[in-house]
Amino acid sequence: MDRVAEALLDGAKPSQLEHAALPDEYIAAHLRVEDIDMFAGMDDKDVRKSLRVGPVPMPELAPDEVLVAIMASSINYNTIWSAIFEPIPTFSFLKRFAATGGFAERHDLPYQVVGSDGAGVIVRLGTGVRHWRVGDHVVISPAYVDDQEPATHADGMLGPEQRAWGFETNFGGLAEYAVVRTSQLVPKPPHLTWEESASITLCAGTAYRMLVSRQGACMKQGDIVLIWGAAGGLGAFAVQLVKNGGGIPVGVVSSDAKAKVLEQLGCDIVINRNELGVDASAPATSAGTIEAGKRLGKAIRARTGEDPHIVVDYVGQTTFGISVFVVRRGGVVVTCGSSSGYRHQYDNRYLWMNLKRIIGSHVANLAEQWECMRLFNMGRLVPTLSAVYPLDEVGSAARQVQTNSHIGKVGVLCMAPKPGMGVTDPQLRERIGEARLNPLRDPEGPADERYR
Ligand SMILES: NC(=O)c1ccc[n+]([C@@H]2O[C@H](COP(=O)([O-])OP(=O)(O)OC[C@H]3O[C@@H](n4cnc5c(N)ncnc54)[C@H](OP(=O)(O)O)[C@@H]3O)[C@@H](O)[C@H]2O)c1
Repeated sequence: MDRVAEALLDGAKPSQLEHAALPDEYIAAHLRVEDIDMFAGMDDKDVRKSLRVGPVPMPELAPDEVLVAIMASSINYNTIWSAIFEPIPTFSFLKRFAATGGFAERHDLPYQVVGSDGAGVIVRLGTGVRHWRVGDHVVISPAYVDDQEPATHADGMLGPEQRAWGFETNFGGLAEYAVVRTSQLVPKPPHLTWEESASITLCAGTAYRMLVSRQGACMKQGDIVLIWGAAGGLGAFAVQLVKNGGGIPVGVVSSDAKAKVLEQLGCDIVINRNELGVDASAPATSAGTIEAGKRLGKAIRARTGEDPHIVVDYVGQTTFGISVFVVRRGGVVVTCGSSSGYRHQYDNRYLWMNLKRIIGSHVANLAEQWECMRLFNMGRLVPTLSAVYPLDEVGSAARQVQTNSHIGKVGVLCMAPKPGMGVTDPQLRERIGEARLNPLRDPEGPADERYR
């Protein structure tokens, strides 16, 4: 174990951390450029084959960066795209970034350390850092922005050089250390464990912007909100946000087990998409899509008397035509992804004749991320972890998400030797209540066996 890791696990003071020697290399989940054709012609592109875990060199810090010792991270769907090298290998993003010059050149390497979530301790500061100190406990927003771009000051997500950290950059969060811009930092919720904190920012922040923010659907009290994939990473936070805002969540899932989980989360209406006959192979403008839309609309109207005001759709190709059809006149379809394919088709007559709108949304700016984190600190939002894996089993953790056999979020422990560490406000944790904090977690489940 390196000196910083030892010091951290011994509860060292910031001054001791500052003086503990950093290792020249650290363990990281990474992809290798020579692997980008490994899945050519294969149907099952198994991410366990491409995600390697091993030593990589410690990078130097730019003035506006900090080095975070990552205690825990989580799996996001973007790591699945990176690890199957589709739709394009993310190494091409690194090249494009490096072409902007200066410290960006560090990112273009024959390996990419992936991962867009992280919770940990700041162990080094770049020379220009003002608001953060060594020893601070932080979580990391994946929105990687260039604050010298004017558009960034209107909305952090609008700068042309905005990137997704650990996807369009190197030195991401599925590792013992990560290089992070100060404009990504948020204080870690003191009542949460490392793995709970590390499972929040990307998905909860994205759901917050999609639903609550002025830049998104701007949900109001009483809105009926249809959420596809409602027991997934984004969905389980979306359900909570709709409930908090006085809306009526309608969650769509693909199994009874997921339906049960949604009921535990308090989702008002739960629909199993297998009963709708959503056909992944039918063109979305076909009668099949409209028929599936009618069945869904009927099911929602039977329970609420109305059509949805908002549809949250990141499933994409297989659902988007239905979403545009089913949302009410003047309603909004808000999208941030395309798990089932990015070539969406919809019948535009239903959109324009009924004055519906489609909003593209991406991650969250830093202000939205802080607002969202405040809700966790108040106990109004809770983590949705269902399983935790050690870093050397990151492939199995990602495989669970790739095969859609997970629920909520899948955590990965990096420097933290076991789950349950990192809580610095146990009183707040007790006030919120252990059962409420982990509604989707089964500590007796197979994924947590190794820690018992
Ligand atoms: N742009 C951004 O800022 C941003 C941020 C976060 C995530 N995303 C994207 O949003 C998507 C969802 O992310 P996530 O973390 O929530 O992923 P996730 O945990 O895998 O959840 C997605 C849910 O979608 C449903 N689903 C998957 N394939 C489907 C299909 N063919 N038809 C219908 N439903 C399907 C699944 O639910 P059921 O099987 O139960 O229906 C699954 O639980 C990903 O594509 C991700 O890249 C984008």
